[in-house]
Amino acid sequence: MQRDRAKMELTSDERDALLGRIEADIARQLKDRPRRLEHSHRVAETAVKLAQIYGVDEFDARAAGLLHDHAKAYSSEELLGKARAFGLDFGCDLALVLPILHGPIAACELKGIYPELDPAVFDAIERHTVACPAMSSLDMIIYIADGLEPGRPSTPRIERQRALIGAISLEELFLESFAGSIAYVLETKRFLWPGIVETYNHYVQKRTR
Ligand SMILES: [Fe+2]
Ligand SMILES: [Fe+2]
Repeated sequence: MQRDRAKMELTSDERDALLGRIEADIARQLKDRPRRLEHSHRVAETAVKLAQIYGVDEFDARAAGLLHDHAKAYSSEELLGKARAFGLDFGCDLALVLPILHGPIAACELKGIYPELDPAVFDAIERHTVACPAMSSLDMIIYIADGLEPGRPSTPRIERQRALIGAISLEELFLESFAGSIAYVLETKRFLWPGIVETYNHYVQKRTR
């Protein structure tokens, strides 16, 4: 049987047990990054709230939120080595996209560790850094939760996003968050991966069409 049907087969007790395992695993994985671990828990809580508001599976939201920064445990050298080993291709020197490698790397590694999770969870983990023109509701929820969880600073941009939760569509809220992330990359004069620009243009064109 395909594992993508597995979610339907998990009982509520099995889901609870799996979340317990995920919490223990992420605590171990990020044991040297306590602030990152706390952030992961806040992203999970925020993702669950967004899932309730926007009608997305809360279990998937919590699992993806807890695990999204799993690969933040690795050094730059380890990330580059793993990206090469997994054959990740960004169409440019991998060192240029170092800050966004941890999403796809975590997705690649976690698939083997948690075959019982819905593949949509791994997509959301991958896309929290790289996005894509076909973001699912779960993908958008994790992306947004990562950017506005309560530990993030109260900048005017983030406060505006927090105020819009539930007042606008999930896609509109995602575009707010996504545009904010891009603005940050531009303001800090970092490398902006062209794939992000393509995705941004896709959503803007869809909106104005
Ligand atoms: Fe991240
Ligand atoms: Fe994060």
